Amino acid sequence: MTTKLRSLSGIKPTGQPHWGNYFGMIQPAVELAKDAEAYYFIADYHALTTVRDADALRSDSYEIAATMLASGLDPSEAVLWRQSDVPEVCELTWILGCVTGMGLVERAHAFKDARAKGIEANFGVVSYPVLMAADILLYDSDVVPVGKDQVQHLEMARDMAGYFNAQFLGDIGYDAEGQWDGRGLKRPAAQVRDLTAVVPGLDGRKMSKSYGNAIPVFASKKQLKKRVMAIKTDSTPLEEPKDPSTCTVFALYKLFSTAEEQAELAARYRGGNFGYGHAKLELLAKADAYFAPQRERFNALMSDTDTLEDILRDGALRARATAEPVMERVRAGIGLPARPIRGAHG
Ligand code: ADP
Ligand code: TRP
Repeated sequence: MTTKLRSLSGIKPTGQPHWGNYFGMIQPAVELAKDAEAYYFIADYHALTTVRDADALRSDSYEIAATMLASGLDPSEAVLWRQSDVPEVCELTWILGCVTGMGLVERAHAFKDARAKGIEANFGVVSYPVLMAADILLYDSDVVPVGKDQVQHLEMARDMAGYFNAQFLGDIGYDAEGQWDGRGLKRPAAQVRDLTAVVPGLDGRKMSKSYGNAIPVFASKKQLKKRVMAIKTDSTPLEEPKDPSTCTVFALYKLFSTAEEQAELAARYRGGNFGYGHAKLELLAKADAYFAPQRERFNALMSDTDTLEDILRDGALRARATAEPVMERVRAGIGLPARPIRGAHG
């Protein structure tokens, strides 16, 4: 019998999901769910490092859930839940924090950026990678689909599993063939797709909510047009040949098209008498056709939050059922007693 790999990932409820989130994480995660046991969650505790608006946190959490489902995630197979509904994650965060040196967390990009800008990071930002490692390790996950910006966090999660195993088991818990022996914590691998590792935004930098250069996944057709037309291009005159490989419009077009369609568009760029405005219209048509059916499903889900709530609660129970035995293993490994159960001693 071959056992399925377990895929796990999380996304913060901090505003409308954009094309970078979709192609970097959501779409690969949904794809993986066809062959793997899928565990995906809304990282609401992580969002608290910045979010101070309770209504926004609630509605953005629904928005992430609806996006995952509209993108094809089947909630009867995959487990979809809110991170904060499984409190064991905080318990494991503390334990991992006790085997992790300050040097490691001080190397995290987000913490270094805050320092470089002279911003005093809250403790949530400092311990962000530890909570993220707990997310991943609590479910014995094998693969973690993410965009490139999360690779450092994945490395840290692997390091923390190693520290835990070395300090409490006396070895790293893996045999010479790299096979996990079922003790301690399992070390997962990041899965980053080449094409979508870093999706560019309107200004050519990485697409990100915080840069204001994002195109929301479920923008209306009108909003979509406005965003696509705002993509920055160079000033090569219409008649002149253009280089597709340096153009953000072309990079985004690649996300939606076949190799033949890309070759065709590249030839039109190189042939001259083809302006960036034309290329943008090609991109707009592709993106709209790609997202239109999902947009309809998304809107229907967002107007039925009772169903979303049911799915998330059911997911939380299933996630917790997976987390509990891992936590028992961890507690036993470090010398903490099994959790008392009311009535167990009569
Ligand atoms: P943002 O940078 O907009 O705040 P998040 O940090 O919430 O996005 O990212 C959620 C997921 O989407 C992560 O797996 C991240 O790697 C991925 N992701 C975000 N932006 C991009 C991008 N521009 N290209 C590829 N993946 C991305
Ligand atoms: N840090 C991730 C982001 O900003 C979100 C996240 C939290 C995550 N926990 C995770 C991703 C565990 C993968 C696995 O996008």
